[in-house]
Amino acid sequence: MTELDIGMPGLKDRIAAELAAVRERSLVYTDADDEVLTRQHSPLMSPLVWDLAHVGNYEELWVLREAGGIEPLRPEIDHLYDAFRYPRADRPTLPLLAPAEARRYISGVRGRVLDVLDRLDPADPDPLRAGGFVFGLVLQHEHQHDETMLATLQLSRRPGLVRDGELPPGAPATDPEVHIPAGIFSMGTDTVAWAYDNERPAHRRHLPGYWIDRHPVTCGAYLRFVEDGGYRDPRWWLPQGWEWVERSGVDAPLFWTRDGDTWWRLRFGREEPVPPDEPVQHVSWYEADAYARWAGKRLPTEAEWEKACGGREYPWGDAGPGDLGDRANLGHRAARPAPVGAYPAGASPYGVEQLVGDVWEWTDSWFQPYPGFRSFPYKEYSEVFFGETYRVLRGGSWATHPSAVRTTFRNWDLPIRRQIFAGFRCARSED
Ligand code: AVJ
Ligand code: FE
Repeated sequence: MTELDIGMPGLKDRIAAELAAVRERSLVYTDADDEVLTRQHSPLMSPLVWDLAHVGNYEELWVLREAGGIEPLRPEIDHLYDAFRYPRADRPTLPLLAPAEARRYISGVRGRVLDVLDRLDPADPDPLRAGGFVFGLVLQHEHQHDETMLATLQLSRRPGLVRDGELPPGAPATDPEVHIPAGIFSMGTDTVAWAYDNERPAHRRHLPGYWIDRHPVTCGAYLRFVEDGGYRDPRWWLPQGWEWVERSGVDAPLFWTRDGDTWWRLRFGREEPVPPDEPVQHVSWYEADAYARWAGKRLPTEAEWEKACGGREYPWGDAGPGDLGDRANLGHRAARPAPVGAYPAGASPYGVEQLVGDVWEWTDSWFQPYPGFRSFPYKEYSEVFFGETYRVLRGGSWATHPSAVRTTFRNWDLPIRRQIFAGFRCARSED
């Protein structure tokens, strides 16, 4: 959403509709037995019932208390849902709200949130309320946790949520690489109303010319790296990556298994042959980096990734979330990436495709602040993660909601993480 929309009639209606939609989504993902919701499916993840109450607690904190001046509803539970307080692995042993109680709590919060929305003056100069920022904050937060819940469900190896929605067919690549000429471009944003602090401010960057893959790397291409002994050859790996391979024993993307000559992948409890023309997902940054070196390329920096988008909110233009049907695979329409070449209408002005949707794309960059960064509204969203610990991912996945991603959106994770819906594309410098 661009700043032109601020104060326009329809803003409150749109917020109300988006709040309803994201809550419906959260409730679908948590429509399961208490045992499934309270169990820890992986030490990497919270029990699903934690995510559910956490989104309500976050909404209470930001919309009701900070923006609405309302007294805490249940101050005694705040510590349980503070993401910095207890490690994920310890969360199942906490006295968390039981599923029914959690649903009651979040719906009680939501009722009051709609009252605050009703009183919202979109022209209010307070930065938390201006243009409905705080509602954008909680909407995106809930969608991010919904994607996290999908990752938890995938890790649980339980059937369900496969969702076989139709995706457009792929197309054979003509020119597999796109040349981006040297020059200055504007990175980040000052105008996207609900952008996070880490996307700001817009600033000019000069990049030398480079080549970037038109599509994300496919399972078929990645399989050639696997079969070429890529996981047994330290030449392709950074020292820490090689250490990670040796320690963990990984020899293929997460959820892949070999049976004779056939490779299978597990997807929401279902075994399927690895689809050769689908972007590879569930690879760590180390694997992406090693593949790129094996292929004689490298990962793009996040500046290269963003420049390839062509300077608009989405690669195909500034049109907000809406009918993305032929442009991008977002919002869990199917529970998988679309084959490469499926979205020519979603190409950037340079002709780079599938930048948004399908798989999060690892970049070569550490998660660092832009020049002139100012934390808003709190340091624990972005600032505490800056440094040389987390690598930046861009573009969102099939599981990301359109309201929670754009060309300037920055995600980050540890270089060993594989449960997220992440793949990559490669780049190379001009000769
Ligand atoms: C931006 C996806 C890295 O899930 O850890 C959720 C988002 N921040 N709650 C995460 C977030 C607070 C964050 N990521
Ligand atoms: Fe959170």
